[in-house]
Amino acid sequence: MKAYITVCLFFSIVLSSGKAACPETEDVVWALDIRRNYCENFRNKCYFDEAKGQGFNITTKEKCQIYCPVTCRLLLSPTNATYRGMTQEFSNDCFRRSHNCVTGATYINTKLKKI
Ligand SMILES: *[C@@H]1O[C@H](CO)[C@@H](O)[C@H](O)[C@H]1NC(C)=O
Ligand SMILES: *[C@@H]1O[C@H](CO)[C@@H](O)[C@H](O)[C@H]1NC(C)=O
Repeated sequence: MKAYITVCLFFSIVLSSGKAACPETEDVVWALDIRRNYCENFRNKCYFDEAKGQGFNITTKEKCQIYCPVTCRLLLSPTNATYRGMTQEFSNDCFRRSHNCVTGATYINTKLKKI
């Protein structure tokens, strides 16, 4: 009985804490918004779903990369992002997305990351 109560408590805590963080598994999703000629990649399907990319169609890396954003405005809004244990600072989020798209890396903002 005690164990049962403990389990219930555990699940209610998990549920009340909202959506679990995405796993860090690298299973990159390439998403293309053909109307905007815009490609963005996500570390895995969970991150893609979280971004709720409306108008995106999942496609192949090759088809998507044709539409990588390569020009970003030089507005300074620095963010640190991590990928494979490396941390890199980007001048703004556009530069991060562009870098990911062109290189196939999936740097994710440390600030936005849910613990
Ligand atoms: C993209 O996805 C939408 C629905 O999510 C679909 O209606 C549309 O045909 C797809 N476009 C392409 C080019 O695959
Ligand atoms: C990014 O990380 C570096 C090194 O830890 C730090 O000096 C810098 O202030 C950080 N930048 C932002 C925007 O948090």
